[in-house]
Amino acid sequence: MDPWRTAIVSSSDGEIRVRGYDVTTLMQRGTFTDVIFLLHRGELPTPEERRLLDAILVGVADHGSGAPSCATARLAASGNRGALSAAVAAGLLAVGDEHGGAGSNCMTLIADGLARAGREGIEAGAAARRDFDEARAAGRRVPGLGHRLHTSDPRTPVLFGLARQAGRAGLGIAYMEALAEAAQTRGLTLPINIDGALAAVLHDLGFDAPFGRLIFLVGRVAGLTAEVAEELSREKAMRIKVPVQYDGVPPRDLP
Ligand SMILES: CC(C)(COP(=O)(O)OP(=O)(O)OC[C@H]1O[C@@H](n2cnc3c(N)ncnc32)[C@H](O)[C@@H]1OP(=O)(O)O)[C@@H](O)C(=O)NCCC(=O)NCCS
Repeated sequence: MDPWRTAIVSSSDGEIRVRGYDVTTLMQRGTFTDVIFLLHRGELPTPEERRLLDAILVGVADHGSGAPSCATARLAASGNRGALSAAVAAGLLAVGDEHGGAGSNCMTLIADGLARAGREGIEAGAAARRDFDEARAAGRRVPGLGHRLHTSDPRTPVLFGLARQAGRAGLGIAYMEALAEAAQTRGLTLPINIDGALAAVLHDLGFDAPFGRLIFLVGRVAGLTAEVAEELSREKAMRIKVPVQYDGVPPRDLP
């Protein structure tokens, strides 16, 4: 069999190197966030990049047991108490376009919107307003906007503030702010949610769209492991009883 090709990790007897760096040195002098950046980008982050990525990971780690990923993990742990990995994996499977995964689609929206703006010679804000109106006219929801609970997502100004402090706020943030403003002026209060905020910051840091979802998965695993551990240690098996109301055909007999 031909060897697999990879540029991420090399390992031989007694030595592991991540993108060329000895893992034992990274363990002593690096952070977990450094290694996530290194794994995905091939280079270590600058202090500003580390701070921003770290803030994203903190922001997505857990935002409540009722969120689809956490609730799914707990439900799986409630019914299958012998499989920690199954419960955590079940939680990850609930991440998608609507929950936790909107960052990827949002990064594509930002990149496409800005590319079109460049072609047409218009500003990021004008492009965002037009993209918002086109999405609404087509009956599409704009990824990265809206939240079931928060009328203003408290994590967004923190991320944007850190990006500005670091001198790394660019057209991605400008585009997202213009999108939210377009919604507001059209009578819809749609906050830039954490997926939209991380998408803007990651765009400005030069990441590709898939990373908008992957970084959520990396961070959310931390929360899921805690949710599952608490479910197993504090709650009894099968404790989650979902209220269900049957509204199908009334009882009937076979002919
Ligand atoms: C997160 C989300 C499901 C929350 O939805 P919600 O608060 O329950 O909103 P509602 O379904 O009550 O919608 C209220 C109105 O806002 C509109 N709306 C909600 N989110 C919208 C969005 N992202 N883009 C455009 N319009 C949106 C709805 O179409 C509806 O308008 P209408 O009354 O004219 O039909 C929703 O905002 C959404 O799908 N966002 C995009 C996906 C996303 O970013 N997910 C990550 C969440 S952290």
